[in-house]
Amino acid sequence: MVSKRKSRTSKNIEDSCIHLCSVFFRSFFYTLLAFLFFFLLYRCLSFTTGISHNNFHICIFSRKFNDPYCNTAGSKPGFQISSEENETLTGETAGDRVSGDPTKIFRNEDKKGYDVLKQVDKHKNLDSVRGDKDGFLKNDTFTGETAGDRVSKDPNKILRSEDKKEYDVHEQEDKPKNLDSSVPDQEHKPKNKVDLSSLIDLKAEEEYNKYIKPKSEEEGYALRAVIKYLYLQRSWLAPGDENINKSRSCEGKGVYVYDLPSKFNRDLLVGCNDILPGVDLCSYFKNEGFGEAIKNLGKGWFATHMYSLEPIVHSRVLKHPCRVYNESQAKLFYVPYYGGYDVLRWHYRNVSEDVKDRLGIEVLKWLESKESWRRNAGKDHVFVLGKITWDFRRDKVPWGSRFLELQEMQNPTKLLIERQPWQVNDIAIPHPTYFHPRTDDDITSWQIKIMSKPRPHLVSFAGGARPENPDNIRSTLIEQCVSSSSNQCRFLDCTNGGCKNPKNVLDLFQDSEFCLQPPGDSATRRSVFDSLISGCIPVIFTPYTAYYQYAWHLPEDHRRYSVYISEQDVKEKRVNVVEILKAKTLREKKDMRSYIIHQLLPGLVYGDSNAKFEKFRDAFDITFDSLLEKINKSE
Ligand SMILES: *[C@@H]1O[C@H](CO)[C@@H](O)[C@H](O)[C@H]1NC(C)=O
Ligand SMILES: *[C@@H]1O[C@H](CO)[C@@H](O)[C@H](O)[C@H]1NC(C)=O
Ligand SMILES: *[C@@H]1O[C@H](CO)[C@@H](O)[C@H](O)[C@H]1NC(C)=O
Ligand SMILES: *[C@@H]1O[C@H](CO)[C@@H](O)[C@H](O)[C@H]1NC(C)=O
Ligand SMILES: *[C@@H]1O[C@H](CO)[C@@H](O)[C@H](O)[C@H]1NC(C)=O
Repeated sequence: MVSKRKSRTSKNIEDSCIHLCSVFFRSFFYTLLAFLFFFLLYRCLSFTTGISHNNFHICIFSRKFNDPYCNTAGSKPGFQISSEENETLTGETAGDRVSGDPTKIFRNEDKKGYDVLKQVDKHKNLDSVRGDKDGFLKNDTFTGETAGDRVSKDPNKILRSEDKKEYDVHEQEDKPKNLDSSVPDQEHKPKNKVDLSSLIDLKAEEEYNKYIKPKSEEEGYALRAVIKYLYLQRSWLAPGDENINKSRSCEGKGVYVYDLPSKFNRDLLVGCNDILPGVDLCSYFKNEGFGEAIKNLGKGWFATHMYSLEPIVHSRVLKHPCRVYNESQAKLFYVPYYGGYDVLRWHYRNVSEDVKDRLGIEVLKWLESKESWRRNAGKDHVFVLGKITWDFRRDKVPWGSRFLELQEMQNPTKLLIERQPWQVNDIAIPHPTYFHPRTDDDITSWQIKIMSKPRPHLVSFAGGARPENPDNIRSTLIEQCVSSSSNQCRFLDCTNGGCKNPKNVLDLFQDSEFCLQPPGDSATRRSVFDSLISGCIPVIFTPYTAYYQYAWHLPEDHRRYSVYISEQDVKEKRVNVVEILKAKTLREKKDMRSYIIHQLLPGLVYGDSNAKFEKFRDAFDITFDSLLEKINKSE
């Protein structure tokens, strides 16, 4: 009953989208781009003191278009790898930061400054073409709904007109259950029912300025869109626990894995000492992508590279309990193209854009010959790309590929470690950590161990400063950390190889109550997940680091598992982070830690390909259950 209602509601959203896409596709697409641009612009402004083009660019570059912890080399395109910049496992390196030759940067950046201005012009032109200067910002929403589809301001009207699409709010709430739902009770309690898209609109209206105060109307709309997409993604989260028997049945849940030619996956790993010039990644591909076992950490611990999601998920999906070998029995189609390793090998090589895009286009050509791909225009297909979304969305900056901008890639679901916040089919899943349990017991014994671990440090930070970027808050945090009184804050400097050994980082996190997670070169950090699995409460400074990313793996209420301190407050030195954390009560800390360890942790790790979990669902299980749910609800 419930599921029928749900799918009818989703179908409505879907229909609207199809309609909109067909009628307005072009303008809609450009609108999105325009919003993205404005938003990036804002983010940049908020990170720079001046409005010089150079600053712009450093900002855009370093925050968005690069690897999060670009493992070996300079984070800017064209930078050469310097031989003494060694890889670290936390993904922080000296080379992560800007290279020594500033003239080179600035020369490069100058040209791009013009491009940015051109984009502004383009946006204006689009505006005037539509003859609706402000209108389209207000009326077009990002789920592909048109103004008419949207919910009226009058709640009674919503409830009346939505009768047909009745929806049980309680059925559709996320799990773990959200305790501080900010939709006031009285808004839906009287009838207890409201339809999904209305609920999402209401939520977006209330929460768009929860973390970032918009500085303009446009930014407000862009932020509403982010929230809407997140809620839509949460509505696909497959329920756990109580349905465990049902969800273990494979009826109507067949997963088909394409047998792609090896040039699209395995061959990319063969030249593992040449993917990045001068860097040997070979050891990371051992053990199905987990890397070398780390014996002194115990069973299930590996030196896992941060970009290893593609082989890890691939190995696991080959043994999916619902795997089918006949396409006509499949619900979900997995395309094992290692797009992340594909783009990675070009990051620091001077090659043309065609070269960077070639393999991605080829894989789509290969798929086009398949009836299974054409049948639903790719909507039931999923790609895992083990890098950040910006590496596949090359725009004016000659970095990465355009794979995710291709028309054919809009329908499929993309699983990434960092998503594009305005793309609903970009879904962020946890960065891989060092822990890859095989059984419930592996998880349980780890939980017991870290739950009772004494934590001598209140706060810690493992990372490097960004001295070349005065607007990054890392220097301020480091300053506050090292000047705190004895042992309250520990700083592990990653710039001189201190984080190279996973044990150093894990030991520090296990010894700490709070772990600072400021953005690095992009918003997300693997370190957030390393900290969570160590039972250290992450301190988050921008919602793009976690809250706007992992809709399936982290609950809506961030207060259950993290502390949020506004980046702006730190930048303006209005707050002392250590002092804020000192004020947290024992009870608060214990509740958060217990929630992290018992509720979240099992769902944040990727078990090995022979994993047999009865009691828990790991990150992979949650992801694949939810993918099937997404497809069902979109039908
Ligand atoms: C980088 O790694 C190489 C080989 O592992 C080592 O010889 C060299 O000393 C390292 N350099 C730094 C700066 O850590
Ligand atoms: C946009 O919405 C406003 C009211 O919300 C309305 O007055 C205006 O005409 C709409 N514009 C378009 C282009 O639909
Ligand atoms: C799952 O199924 C088994 C038997 O197949 C049954 O004993 C058990 O109670 C069921 N569990 C739940 C949670 O329904
Ligand atoms: C796949 O399944 C369909 C229907 O279930 C069946 O007709 C077809 O013969 C199967 N194909 C193969 C190769 O087994
Ligand atoms: C990259 O290659 C192009 C074409 O071969 C060449 O013109 C350009 O100078 C090269 N750039 C660098 C930085 O080597």
